[in-house]
Amino acid sequence: MRMFEAENVHSFYGGAHVLQGVELHVPEGTLVALLGRNGVGKTSFIRSVAGMAPPVVRAGSVRYRGQELLGKPSYQIASLGIGLVPQGRHIFRSLTVVENLIMAARGSRSGDQPAGAPWNLNRVWAVFPRLAERQRNRGSDLSGGEQQMLAIARALMTNPSLLLMDEPSEGLAPVIVQQLRDQMLMLKEDGLSMLLVEQQLGLALAVADDVYILDKGTVVYHGSPGELRSSPDIMHRYLGV
Ligand SMILES: Nc1ncnc2c1ncn2[C@@H]1O[C@H](COP(=O)(O)OP(=O)(O)O)[C@@H](O)[C@H]1O
Ligand SMILES: [Mg+2]
Repeated sequence: MRMFEAENVHSFYGGAHVLQGVELHVPEGTLVALLGRNGVGKTSFIRSVAGMAPPVVRAGSVRYRGQELLGKPSYQIASLGIGLVPQGRHIFRSLTVVENLIMAARGSRSGDQPAGAPWNLNRVWAVFPRLAERQRNRGSDLSGGEQQMLAIARALMTNPSLLLMDEPSEGLAPVIVQQLRDQMLMLKEDGLSMLLVEQQLGLALAVADDVYILDKGTVVYHGSPGELRSSPDIMHRYLGV
């Protein structure tokens, strides 16, 4: 049984057919990157599988450990063990780092057995030392990089088995992106499965086991990072690099 498998997903914003039969799967314990230019439907895919409307999913199947996710509300999908780091962070700006993390932990009711040790504040501090230093600061006082790490840590506090991340590197300085890369590799080492939406090809190729490229709402490429690296024509055509 595949851990996470999307088949023939069709999604719409009103009459706009934004996802046109997307197919993608995440084998257990791997990090899969979903790449593509702006506006090709990456966020729409994440929202579709996480049970967030819009867009409206009109056809297809998304299975997690054999269970159909389409049609389930987002809280139920989260409680199955799927964590989400949405594009644009969305932490609570008026709450402190600790408060943001504790709120997420309260909300967790993970039904399945998560990978690795359970998440608590001490484990978050070990993976994100900067958050430990900033634990009494409010979200609004954090830098962009710190906010992104808090957004990831908050999702981890729900003890997910699969983590969906939508452009976590957006707007971050290169040195922070490097930290993020190391943290993702650490999480993978720990057995966490991840689906990473990225614009930064370098980051994606450094952490992913498998790469998909989306263009105009369909998957136009699937291969290993090594295969993609040796396909400059593909990278040029679909990623503009
Ligand atoms: N709420 C919305 N209503 C209508 N169209 C939308 C909405 N959100 C995104 N779109 C459109 O859907 C397409 C895919 O967007 P999106 O999934 O955000 O792309 P990506 O994340 O790859 O940049 C774009 O053409 C975008 O303009
Ligand atoms: Mg997006």
